[in-house]
Amino acid sequence: MSARPSIGIFGAGKVGTALARLLVAAGYEVRIAGSPRQTALELLVAVVAPGAIVASPEALVEASDIVIVAVPFGKASTVPWSLFDDRIVVDAMNYWPPIDGNLAEVDADPRTTSEQNASRNPRARLVKSLNHLGYHEMEDDPLPAGDPLRRALAVVGDDPDARAALATIIDELGFDAVDGGPLANGLVLEPGHPAFGRELSASELEAMFAPVAHAAA
Ligand SMILES: NC(=O)c1ccc[n+]([C@@H]2O[C@H](COP(=O)([O-])OP(=O)(O)OC[C@H]3O[C@@H](n4cnc5c(N)ncnc54)[C@H](OP(=O)(O)O)[C@@H]3O)[C@@H](O)[C@H]2O)c1
Repeated sequence: MSARPSIGIFGAGKVGTALARLLVAAGYEVRIAGSPRQTALELLVAVVAPGAIVASPEALVEASDIVIVAVPFGKASTVPWSLFDDRIVVDAMNYWPPIDGNLAEVDADPRTTSEQNASRNPRARLVKSLNHLGYHEMEDDPLPAGDPLRRALAVVGDDPDARAALATIIDELGFDAVDGGPLANGLVLEPGHPAFGRELSASELEAMFAPVAHAAA
């Protein structure tokens, strides 16, 4: 990976465009792919995320070191997972029944939703992150490193290098990065679990992972 990874984002909605704004402001090259229904995507992106490049799914994956998936969880299967071999893939999605409906196969699956997504392409280096705060908080909360009020974002995944790569980006976006360990620990970050939706410091967020780390030991 080059010194400054290029970033591709699937989903030009609330989260995708907020992350695009943050990443462009931090100096990253950002590509964004929308849904086929978004016919005026160039115009939309020029207005809400200037500097981001609209790309086809194929061109986005080809040009990006890190791919962020920020589409509705129920539409995750429409993203081209087969193209994600060897890519760091950030699962920013949450299973949200008011939007996604109640998905019986997901409800019956004991794995975390990111483990379920990881199985869509086991060769992708999937991490779960950028999902536990609302998009407006991710835009409102960034602070310089060392600020005592700085908030934290966690990253979990089974590839330590992928976790570290995303941690660097989280730091540059203005958050303290918490290494939450393996992907299964992502339960802590899911809706209905302790950290979800909460603006926490690094030590507070780390503490949320302590019980699952202990249980996994
Ligand atoms: N909202 C938040 O504050 C927040 C925070 C953290 C995480 N999340 C999670 O992030 C994900 C996105 O949330 P959001 O609030 O940004 O939703 P959103 O505003 O509805 O945006 C999602 C966008 O993804 C598009 N899309 C669907 N399939 C696609 C595909 N295959 N390729 C590219 N784009 C596709 C959708 O288009 P169509 O409408 O045509 O399907 C829509 O424009 C969800 O899983 C959500 O749970 C949300």
